[in-house]
Amino acid sequence: MSSLHPWTGEMAAYALGWSDTSGTPDSGGSEGKGVRQALAVLGAEAVGADGADAVPGAVAVEFVHTFSLLHDDIMDGDALRRQRPAVWKAYGTGPAVLAGDALLAQAMTTLAETPGRHAAAAVRCFCRTLNALVSGQAQDLRFEHRPWYGPGAVGPEQYRSMAEHKTGALLGCAVALGAVLGGAPDRTVTTLERAGRHLGLAFQAVDDILGIWGDPAVTGKPVHADLRRGKKTYPMLAALAGGGRAAHELAALLDPPQPLDHEAAAHVAALVEELGGRTATRDEARRHLDTARRALRDASLTRTAAQQLDGLFTYVLDRTR
Ligand code: IPE
Ligand code: MG
Ligand code: MG
Repeated sequence: MSSLHPWTGEMAAYALGWSDTSGTPDSGGSEGKGVRQALAVLGAEAVGADGADAVPGAVAVEFVHTFSLLHDDIMDGDALRRQRPAVWKAYGTGPAVLAGDALLAQAMTTLAETPGRHAAAAVRCFCRTLNALVSGQAQDLRFEHRPWYGPGAVGPEQYRSMAEHKTGALLGCAVALGAVLGGAPDRTVTTLERAGRHLGLAFQAVDDILGIWGDPAVTGKPVHADLRRGKKTYPMLAALAGGGRAAHELAALLDPPQPLDHEAAAHVAALVEELGGRTATRDEARRHLDTARRALRDASLTRTAAQQLDGLFTYVLDRTR
């Protein structure tokens, strides 16, 4: 990242998990899970190309993913990411916005400078995704102010649209970019992108579960933060959907005059589980993974890469971080 101002470069390196706040190389453990890079490389291999062809795509999606998390933590007011202070906590909000911008610019630069004939198609695919991601984040933020039940409540289809945009689009883009850079025909790219989007919907459903019942020592993110901010996550919507006395009791707890403290949030989490919100969300994740797997079968892909994609899909469902 040589063209970056050293300060934004330092913050970007921190966000990527490469170094600590003093610029010293990090001993490891703060990087992401690598799901998106793996998707890009496997996308190329699945269409019979060399995984190395996907490297600019893999780098671009990792930079954009990091950019989106960096800005997301500001929007969500989350102070912890990957077991460390979020960039805005470590450096301040203004600098963190700038570091995110820098990562986005680097992502675009990396992709636009891809050698060979596929750079323009890759950039087009990437720009579509950026627009989708912004739109998904807008939906997510607007939903915070919607009521939990009754007229104006967020329905499951609205939730899916939000999750598909904020999370599905980038996972779809990752695998599609691999295929684009591997020279695949449009039909194959579209099918792989669809598989990736459904994988993203499953990923977000699991993320919603981890945000309520995950172990912060493992996820590296605060627990119950979504509950406190009134995020319309799938477990909450599913728990409230059944109606009845228990759902009304839950809804009443969700609009407190003061923000939920730890005990109240734990009580809400227990009620949501009792009302089936956790099970329904795992079912939702499984349904999307099934759809993603069906899409994979529709494309004629190389065997080994298709099997590895399948393994990655299973990991997304079973992950604990
Ligand atoms: C993040 O969504 C989506 C993007 C960054 C575009 P969330 O806000 O639900 O994700 P976490 O839980 O903070 O990682
Ligand atoms: Mg967030
Ligand atoms: Mg968010």
